[in-house]
Amino acid sequence: MTSTSAHDVALEAVALSKTYASDGQDVAAVRDVDLQVGHGDLMAVMGPSGCGKSTLLHLLGGLARPTTGRALVDGVDLASMSDRELAEVRRTKVGFVFQAFNLVPVLTAAENVALPALIAGRSRAWAEARANELLGAVGLRDRHAQRPKQLSGGEQQRVAIARALVMEPSVLLADEPTGNLDSRTGRDIVQLLLELNQRGQTVVLVTHDVKVAGVAGRLVVMRDGQVQERSRPDAPAAGTPDTIDRLVDIDDAADLPW
Ligand SMILES: Nc1ncnc2c1ncn2[C@@H]1O[C@H](COP(=O)(O)OP(=O)(O)OP(=O)(O)O)[C@@H](O)[C@H]1O
Ligand SMILES: [Mg+2]
Repeated sequence: MTSTSAHDVALEAVALSKTYASDGQDVAAVRDVDLQVGHGDLMAVMGPSGCGKSTLLHLLGGLARPTTGRALVDGVDLASMSDRELAEVRRTKVGFVFQAFNLVPVLTAAENVALPALIAGRSRAWAEARANELLGAVGLRDRHAQRPKQLSGGEQQRVAIARALVMEPSVLLADEPTGNLDSRTGRDIVQLLLELNQRGQTVVLVTHDVKVAGVAGRLVVMRDGQVQERSRPDAPAAGTPDTIDRLVDIDDAADLPW
């Protein structure tokens, strides 16, 4: 649930805003957002297309710089960082998963997972061992030598999730990770994210699926760049059989327990 003590906070937004200049017009994609994500939280982010969900995730993970306000990862302010320091945060502190899997086609599954660790300067032995461990954790132990085109969409997304976790990031930021998958495969991916959260991984998940939002302990709804939080005081621990069953039970927003 919501954590408030300073060192429990994995991600924080303070009066965070991003305005794009587009064809001479300013677009306020994120407006004055205050938000905290505690270590161990599972937070769903919902809202209509164009409301600023991806932009917010990019700001929180240091993929984009805010126009005003601050984003902090593990209490460290990203605004004060040089481009080089920010790149280091992106490599080590946050893991991103997108709708498109973005795997390197010529590399095997294991090589794709190991790549960010090698770029971050870890030894080949360390990176290979970690890649194999993570491929096991996402259910792909036997597929480590396959290249992306030899894998199904769901398997490719599992590889992308393993790759995002290779440096043990404080938070996994997932932007519609099931958007390119059929509903059954998408549900398997959500279940994997729930299991990772159950093991302590902090997860922020953008989704259009009310079933998915229904299992998160925290729900942030965005409208026109602003957030409105709805939390469930009775939220069960994410990833328990109870919450996984709920994936099947919830059919539309009216069933949401908030
Ligand atoms: N690079 C950019 N330049 C100009 N405007 C942008 C840029 N990126 C996003 N925007 C605008 O900012 C607003 C928020 O976009 P964003 O991609 O964050 O929305 P979203 O909620 O993720 O939408 P979707 O559900 O369709 O992915 C939109 O109006 C979009 O057109
Ligand atoms: Mg988006």
